[in-house]
Amino acid sequence: MVKRWSTVRLTLAAVLVWAGGMTGCGADVRVEGAALVPLPASVVPAAEGEDFTLEPAVVITAPGEAAGVAEHLALAVQEATGQRPQAGPDGAIRLALTPGAGAEGYELVVGPDGVDLRAETTAGLFYGVQTLRQLLPQARDGGPSRMAGVRITDRPRFAWRGAMLDVARHFRPVADVKRYLDLMAAYKLNVLHLHLTDDQGWRLAIAGRPELTRIGGSTQVGGGPGGFYTADDYRELVKYASDRFIDIVPEIDMPGHTNAALASYAELNCDGRAREPYTGIEVGFSTLCVGSAATDRFVSDVIAEVARLTPGDYVHIGGDEVRELSEADYTRFVERAQELVVRAGKRMVAWQEVGKARLAPGSVVQYWQTREEPDDVVNAVRQGAKVVLSPASRVYLDMKYDSDSRVGQQWAGLVEVEDSYDWDPAALLPGVGEAAVLGVEAPLWTETVTNIDDLEYLAFPRLPAVAEVAWTPQKSRDFEVFASRLAGHAEMWRRWGVDFHESPQIPWGTTDPLTR
Ligand code: ACM
Repeated sequence: MVKRWSTVRLTLAAVLVWAGGMTGCGADVRVEGAALVPLPASVVPAAEGEDFTLEPAVVITAPGEAAGVAEHLALAVQEATGQRPQAGPDGAIRLALTPGAGAEGYELVVGPDGVDLRAETTAGLFYGVQTLRQLLPQARDGGPSRMAGVRITDRPRFAWRGAMLDVARHFRPVADVKRYLDLMAAYKLNVLHLHLTDDQGWRLAIAGRPELTRIGGSTQVGGGPGGFYTADDYRELVKYASDRFIDIVPEIDMPGHTNAALASYAELNCDGRAREPYTGIEVGFSTLCVGSAATDRFVSDVIAEVARLTPGDYVHIGGDEVRELSEADYTRFVERAQELVVRAGKRMVAWQEVGKARLAPGSVVQYWQTREEPDDVVNAVRQGAKVVLSPASRVYLDMKYDSDSRVGQQWAGLVEVEDSYDWDPAALLPGVGEAAVLGVEAPLWTETVTNIDDLEYLAFPRLPAVAEVAWTPQKSRDFEVFASRLAGHAEMWRRWGVDFHESPQIPWGTTDPLTR
C-alpha cells in the first residue's frame, strides 16, 4: 500500500519513545537528530542538560587496535565539522576495546564528559562509529555544536547482513564496487556477495585459464565491452571491504549460467564445440558437461583459485536455475563442487536448489524464490544447513519500485520500501525459524543496470531498509516509525551524492534532518 504523508508528522521524540528497548525516559526524550538506521537494540536518552559539546578541535583517544577504527571516525567528524580531529590521550571522544558487548556489539555513551564507545571487537567499535556518525551534528561554521546525551547498547540480530552485486550482466569497475561497499558499511552490512560469472560474462581472472576473461569477459548484456577484475583488483576489493568489516563472498555460478565459460573453452561442452558469447537475458539454457574430466579439472582449478584469493569463510557456487540436467546429474555436480570447496578450506554457499543434494556440515543455502512451499530449503534445513534469506518479492533490489521506475524488472512484482522492510525473517518460511536463519541478503541483478547512478537509485532506500531487517530486533520494528527515521537520511545521501528513489511511502522533509 502506498501511503501519503502530508498529514503525518512524527516527532523524533515520538520515534524514540516508540522505538522500544528504552528505560528511564518519559515524554521529554531529546535525542534530537537521532534518526538512527538501523535502529539500535536499546536507546536511552540522557536527562535534560546532559549534553556533549563537540568542539571542532576535538581529540579522539583510541589506544591499540582501536586506532584503525578511529580513522573512520576521524573522517566522519571531519565531514561534520570541516576540521580534522587530533588523535591523542585524554580526548573527549574515547574508543576502547573491553569485554562485554558481544562479538559485534558496542556501547555508546554521550554525555557532558564526552563520548565513550566501547566494544569487545574492532568490528563492534566500527558499528558504534557508524551509529556515532549518524548522531554527529553538522556544524561547518567552525564553532562548537551540541550533541544530545544518550546511552546506546546494541548488537545485531543476524550474523549475515548482506548485499549482492551482479557484476556479470553488466560489469562494474573497482571504484563503483568500493562506493557500494562504503554505502553498505554506513548501514552495518557485513557481506558483499559478488556474482562474478554468468551466461553474459566471466569477471574474475583465473590463473592458467586466460580465455575465461579474454573471451568470457569481453561482453555483457546488450553487447557492450564487458570487463573483468585481475587478481590484484580482486585483492584490492577484499582489502577495502575488510577495512570496513565486510567479507566478500565470491560466486562462481555453476553448472548453469555458464555460457561465458562455455564460449571460452570448447572442452567444457559435451559436444566439444564452444558456444557463442551471449548478450541476451534469458536464463536456464546453459550447463557445464557434468561428469567429464575436463569439467572436473575446470571446476577444481576455479574453486581452488577463488578460495586462494578469498580470506573469508565462504565460496558461493551458484547452483540456480539448471534446466538442462537430470536431478541425478545436478546433485552429483553440486556434491562434487561442495567437496572441492571444503577441500579448499571454505564453506559452500549456494542458491536454494542445492537443498536437493546431500549437504556438508556448515554449508549454507540462499532462498530466493517467491513460492510458498520452499521444499529445497526445508530439505536443506533438515540436513542442518543454515539459510540466508533473499526473497525476490521483498529484497531483490533490481525489481522496480513502481510502474514509473526508470530501470529494473518486475517478474517478482513491484517492490516498494515497505515491501522490503515489513517482514520477519523468522516467520517467512514454514519450517525455517530464527535458529535456522543465518541472515538476510539483498541481491541487485544488473540486466537493466548499466551505471552506478541507476544502481544507487535501486538500492536507496531499500538497502537501508533491509539493513534494519537484518540488524534490529523484530519487536522494535514498525514501518511507519522506520519511514520517519529514514526521511532524516535524505540530507546525508544528498551530501554523499547518492541517487535515491523519492518513494511516496517516506515522509521526506517532515522530520528533522538526520544531523544538524
Ligand atoms: C536467482 O535469482 N536465479 C538466484
